[in-house]
Amino acid sequence: MTTNRTFTMIKPDAVEKGHIGAILEKISAAGFKIVAMKYTQLSTRDAQEFYAIHKERPFFGELVEFMTRGPIVAAILEKGNAVEDFRALIGATNPAEAAEGTIRKMFATDIAENAVHGSDSDENAAIEGAFHFSGREIF
Ligand code: PPS
Repeated sequence: MTTNRTFTMIKPDAVEKGHIGAILEKISAAGFKIVAMKYTQLSTRDAQEFYAIHKERPFFGELVEFMTRGPIVAAILEKGNAVEDFRALIGATNPAEAAEGTIRKMFATDIAENAVHGSDSDENAAIEGAFHFSGREIF
């Protein structure tokens, strides 16, 4: 069963470059409603836990270092077919392969600093949303 929610983070590279407003604008224009949002910074432990599924991958240390180096925007987004439609909106993991007009094509630096995260399944969207937000913070 597909759900109508996904989870996103605007990553430290995009925050540093001042792209928060432009990225939220694109998300909103694509029909996503923000049902939870916060400006925060991940601790090393947070990032290791959030990305635990990737801990054996060669870039894990680099990923944790990058995701903790500055603030992020975390949000839960609502829309029909949210996970799939949001992955289409952000584009391929590697911005060099991302389609024109996608958020990563417009705002990412490279495969390591790729501006935004989007959940890859309904199950992970629920897990990742609950990692960042309590029930009282979701509207
Ligand atoms: S995806 O989107 O989950 O299918 O992509 P995947 O290739 O599995 O990557 C998982 C997350 O790791 C990040 N990533 C990297 N970080 C640093 N260096 C390299 N080479 C690299 N390759 C992938 C990628 O941005 C994914 O992060 P999230 O936050 O899930 O987008």
